[in-house]
Amino acid sequence: MAASAHLTVVGLGGSMAKVSRSRAALVSALQGAAGAGAETELLDIRELNLPMYNPDDDAPTEAAMRLIESCHAADGMLWASPMYQGTISGALKNALDWLHLLRDRDPPFLHDKVIGLVSAAGGTQGLQAINTMEFSVRALRGWAVPYVVPVAGAARVFDPDGQVREPAIALQLKTLGMEVVRVTEKFSSNGSLHRQAECEQAAERVATAG
Ligand SMILES: Cc1cc2nc3c(=O)[nH]c(=O)nc-3n(C[C@H](O)[C@H](O)[C@H](O)COP(=O)(O)O)c2cc1C
Repeated sequence: MAASAHLTVVGLGGSMAKVSRSRAALVSALQGAAGAGAETELLDIRELNLPMYNPDDDAPTEAAMRLIESCHAADGMLWASPMYQGTISGALKNALDWLHLLRDRDPPFLHDKVIGLVSAAGGTQGLQAINTMEFSVRALRGWAVPYVVPVAGAARVFDPDGQVREPAIALQLKTLGMEVVRVTEKFSSNGSLHRQAECEQAAERVATAG
């Protein structure tokens, strides 16, 4: 077994649709992570069926609790969004909003988690959804791996049963999963990471720098 067997990579994404290409892409990328030796978990947006996040009433439901705890426990993540109106879906954004409940944890939010990004678009503008997700990665204090997979013409790329028809895309998705494991291993092998004191020092440095 690979040295990364102790690492957990959590996949978050897909759409509310029964047949979701972004979910199929996410599963494929998770297989890449599993092939590199990580434990994997799929947080399927359709299955989670989260209520709309409301800061005035944010007691987490069972599904929201699963989302929050799995994301916080993960070493690495893969996010996959459908391309909706030129950006990410509302359902994925809502899931990310629920992660606000991680603000008081130690470490807070997704501090130092390595995140791989995937999108599935009907057309060719999938990179816009990737870029939008990257804003949230940074807001949640994670690190996006530079290699990203915006799947264009998604209806042609996936079978209705979720199998990838194009070997080149299948390879890209698996490579991304492996890449998340590779970089996560580097972060995890540094004992100084994932500590509250380190977060506070980093925040102080940023504040001092103005
Ligand atoms: C509400 C909605 C908005 C969409 N907007 C775009 C878009 O702006 N650009 C695009 O290329 N495809 C767009 N599409 C097509 C989807 O990106 C495509 O069907 C993709 O496979 C959806 O992901 P899913 O299969 O995981 O549901 C849109 C689809 C829907 C339902």
